[in-house]
Amino acid sequence: MTAQRPAVLVTRHVFPEVIDKLREHFDVETNDDDAVWPREELLRRLQGKAAAFTTGSERIDEALLQACPDLKLVANMSVGYNNFDVDAMTRHGVQGSNAPDVLTETTADFGFALLMATARRVSESEHFLRAGHWHKWAVEMFLGAEVHGSTLGILGMGRIGQGIARRGAHGFGMKVIYHNRSRLDAATEAECRATYVAKDELLRQADHLVLVLPYTPQNHHAIGAAELAQMKPTATLINIARGGIVDDAALAQALREQRIAAAGLDVFEGEPTVHPDLLTVPNVVLTPHIASATRGTRLGMAHLAADNLIAYLTRGEVLTPVNTPAR
Ligand code: DGY
Repeated sequence: MTAQRPAVLVTRHVFPEVIDKLREHFDVETNDDDAVWPREELLRRLQGKAAAFTTGSERIDEALLQACPDLKLVANMSVGYNNFDVDAMTRHGVQGSNAPDVLTETTADFGFALLMATARRVSESEHFLRAGHWHKWAVEMFLGAEVHGSTLGILGMGRIGQGIARRGAHGFGMKVIYHNRSRLDAATEAECRATYVAKDELLRQADHLVLVLPYTPQNHHAIGAAELAQMKPTATLINIARGGIVDDAALAQALREQRIAAAGLDVFEGEPTVHPDLLTVPNVVLTPHIASATRGTRLGMAHLAADNLIAYLTRGEVLTPVNTPAR
């Protein structure tokens, strides 16, 4: 008699080769329509499942854990895991894993792309052209902010922040300053050519401020009206971290009143809904949470989540844990 294979749920559509790999070990329920399941449906589909492959938007909290007693592992295919109530998972003996490293350079590339597009008004000028408003070249048309030689501020200096620092310092001759919960070691600071400063100083000095910090309750609205007021009126703000780190309503007002020059946002409070005021101000570049979106990187993230699932359910190991529950 063959032993029953563990059942796992993949909550969104993912690459077929990753599903095939999971099917070598498990009974896999997939979401081929890529529907965003309502909470009750997610709970229903999780019944009897030993593990879930999640994308980072499914809330794994006390109520869900109580309702799904067979769950042993939740593997996010994202580096961020603010959808996890880590303490509740640990209490329930549920292992969590994320997908770090595989997306670092791709996400840093995008952070820099968004910085460039924002500073040099790429979206705004393209909309102008597409709308048929371009009738003559003009000396002062769409003047932007310098990138090379300017001061790059980074709030949150993990691996992605360091990738952005290296691009700015080595590629664009920028002066790099950063603020982080803890200061980097001297060798990493030297490699990134980055100087540690207090948060207030970061806000006051940065020409381009890039947010790359994790979303935690402490970081909710880390950039709100008070912080925006400290920034230079010529500054740009780039958020590739998480919605909720910026107070989007306060940012929209600051952009409308030109209290800062421009913003580039890949993440939003309550996404995929975007604050309506952000949709009406011209000096903001908006993208739909695509910083890690290259085929190679998204495939790497999905494989890492699948490998966590396989390692945990077949060997009791976890490659990239976010907690250490008692077993
Ligand atoms: C991440 O990995 O956290 C990215 O934001 C994609 O969700």
